[in-house]
Amino acid sequence: MKRILLVIGAKGMLGRDLMSVLQSSLPNDEIIGWDIEEIDIQKEEDTVTNLGKLRPDIVVHIAAYTDVDGCESDEEKAFAVNAEGTKHVALAATRCQAKMVYLSTDYVFDGNKREPYLESDSPHPLNVYGRSKLKGEQYVQEWVKDALIIRTQWLYGRYGKNFVTSILQQAREKRVLSIVNDQIGSPTYTADLAKVISVLIQFNAQGIFHVANSDLCTWYIFGQAILKLSGMDKMRVIPISSKDLGRPAVRPSYSVLNCQKLKKETGLTLRPWSEALKDYLTTHRLTIGRPDSQGR
Ligand SMILES: NC(=O)c1ccc[n+]([C@@H]2O[C@H](COP(=O)([O-])OP(=O)(O)OC[C@H]3O[C@@H](n4cnc5c(N)ncnc54)[C@H](OP(=O)(O)O)[C@@H]3O)[C@@H](O)[C@H]2O)c1
Repeated sequence: MKRILLVIGAKGMLGRDLMSVLQSSLPNDEIIGWDIEEIDIQKEEDTVTNLGKLRPDIVVHIAAYTDVDGCESDEEKAFAVNAEGTKHVALAATRCQAKMVYLSTDYVFDGNKREPYLESDSPHPLNVYGRSKLKGEQYVQEWVKDALIIRTQWLYGRYGKNFVTSILQQAREKRVLSIVNDQIGSPTYTADLAKVISVLIQFNAQGIFHVANSDLCTWYIFGQAILKLSGMDKMRVIPISSKDLGRPAVRPSYSVLNCQKLKKETGLTLRPWSEALKDYLTTHRLTIGRPDSQGR
């Protein structure tokens, strides 16, 4: 029987990749994408009513207020969208008896562990964004039976501004780049993540899963790889500390995710981040540096 899959946040960076992956990998299902124009998840009644009319079988909730520094100065909005908004979606999904998939973040951890984080490790977010997303996780667990929560990190992709487009933009404008070298994680390509989300849906996976490209690096190492693969390795790059950069939100110095559970339950391991980056830069060479060229 044809199922209805609803993606909320369908026009974001991950959302656009996810829509096309779901459309091609689940051809017998109807894939519907909503974003802020169709539904404002901050509004409980609208969210419940709109989902009630559509009656989806699966709700993939990836909408969020993702500006990590912006969340620090606007805590109210961070919690209204990422926590309360998620509660509204969870409530609506439960009323429709829909399965729910929620995207969360490595920023639920504080980085003190210094070895890859397991799904069972206790979260302890350092910033408002992490706290609001963790609250979202808790609402999903509280309201939806057998929900799937996927924690991921350091996303970049074809659609939307991200670290890769920002480095290439800065490389065109500046003579020297300063990049943070005291945060360790795994850059993750949205096209790879989207495929895993589709597989996890097909496996009817439940509970928390960590999903990221394999291998780890700092933003500085990642930045150097971007420049090298783009033929700009002559650019001078200076490693700096997070303190030197002085961003409003504190980030964990180590937030590598252990993805062994994914491997054990589905057989999947994501390729190393360096391979994914090469693929991304080769595939999107013409549009790189113009992240809004796809209409956003
Ligand atoms: N980016 C990362 O590095 C990263 C890392 C870990 C986890 N995640 C999680 O992965 C998911 C996707 O991230 P992303 O980077 O693809 O995000 P994104 O590009 O910022 O997309 C999020 C989408 O949600 C929409 N949205 C915001 N507020 C909304 C509201 N009240 N109602 C309905 N839609 C709303 C946004 O619309 P506007 O653009 O108009 O606001 C946007 O289209 C998020 O849940 C995020 O927390 C991201």
